[in-house]
Amino acid sequence: MSGKKQVFVIGGTGYVGASVIQRLVKHRTAAESEYTVLVRSEDKERKLAELVKSGGLGNVSIKLVRGSNADVDVLEAQAAKADVVFSIASSDDVPAIKAVLAGLKKRYEQTGVTPILIHTSGTGVIMDKAEGNFEGTKYYDDTIPEHFDTLADTQIHRDVDLLVIEADSQGYLRSYIIIPSLIYGFATGPLYDAGVGNLHSIAVPLLVRNGVSRGEVGVLGEGLSKWPAVHVDDTADLFITVYDGVISGRAGHGREGYYFAENGHYTWYGLSKATAEAMVALGKSKSTEPTPFTTAECEEMPLLRALGTNALCHANRGRALGWKPKYTVDDLYKSVKPEAEILLGVSS
Ligand SMILES: NC(=O)c1ccc[n+]([C@@H]2O[C@H](COP(=O)([O-])OP(=O)(O)OC[C@H]3O[C@@H](n4cnc5c(N)ncnc54)[C@H](OP(=O)(O)O)[C@@H]3O)[C@@H](O)[C@H]2O)c1
Repeated sequence: MSGKKQVFVIGGTGYVGASVIQRLVKHRTAAESEYTVLVRSEDKERKLAELVKSGGLGNVSIKLVRGSNADVDVLEAQAAKADVVFSIASSDDVPAIKAVLAGLKKRYEQTGVTPILIHTSGTGVIMDKAEGNFEGTKYYDDTIPEHFDTLADTQIHRDVDLLVIEADSQGYLRSYIIIPSLIYGFATGPLYDAGVGNLHSIAVPLLVRNGVSRGEVGVLGEGLSKWPAVHVDDTADLFITVYDGVISGRAGHGREGYYFAENGHYTWYGLSKATAEAMVALGKSKSTEPTPFTTAECEEMPLLRALGTNALCHANRGRALGWKPKYTVDDLYKSVKPEAEILLGVSS
């Protein structure tokens, strides 16, 4: 192994992770770092290897390791060699995070140096069960650890987050948990051009595809509930802001190391309405007014229920480190039509 800083990235071929890698290879520490990227498909491994070989990611040291989250031995072995782990593949995989933690513990025991874990959660962790019927009032502030203490252990993502925080409190690593909200926007850059990074997020494509299959765009209840949103580029920037804060020693960790990614809140009605208008403009629906999901639809696709929750938060900790998100909720609404055009292969 070289004397370089070992950085292991899990989920680097994803929608978010590829944008993070594109920033890491340009980071001021890139020349003194060696990046190892976990890749689970043969196709992406080949495309990424070609891009690295051609210099498409610059003159940096990048190794590829084939494996998935199910390969816990691989995760543990790679984490045991890492000074820094970026965990951007899953917010809910307990065996995978346990393997990463076990590896980082070995690293600490072998080197005496405390490794860094930058893990990705999601604002699902703070969501309620409003079903679109009311606008929430409780805002979670990531600079107030007590706000997280009130969360039920049964909240989505919380089991993994608690394992990460516990590891930090045991002192064998320092943890930083990024909590993105609804991420949107078309991801761009060499990894996406090469067919490595996933181009699309979750919520807007779900509304669009579901709208096509049911003939008109849906909404849960009255759509009064609110969620935060953040552009994919701003999300990736937050990872780098936090990484800079880790290096400078300014970033809080463990219980004081939650970082929401948010730049404003939208209503579910507003997002469904923007989607319905885009679908009409693209000739894919006749109604610019969203219609309520039925109980049967929600039973068939439980994820639809998340589209009626409140998840209200303030991303104050990242902003205090200098994070300056550029895109607003207005950009979220404006992003829907171009995204739908690409998803559906049509133009207005
Ligand atoms: N997108 C959002 O709106 C949003 C919001 C909040 C939180 N998050 C969180 O952000 C993280 C990244 O999300 P994303 O939108 O970038 O997702 P994504 O595009 O699906 O990317 C996930 C990445 O992890 C890899 N991956 C997934 N399952 C894996 C497994 N079992 N083993 C190994 N690798 C696996 C994927 O590999 P492939 O390239 O082979 O698919 C990809 O590299 C997740 O933890 C997600 O929960 C996302």
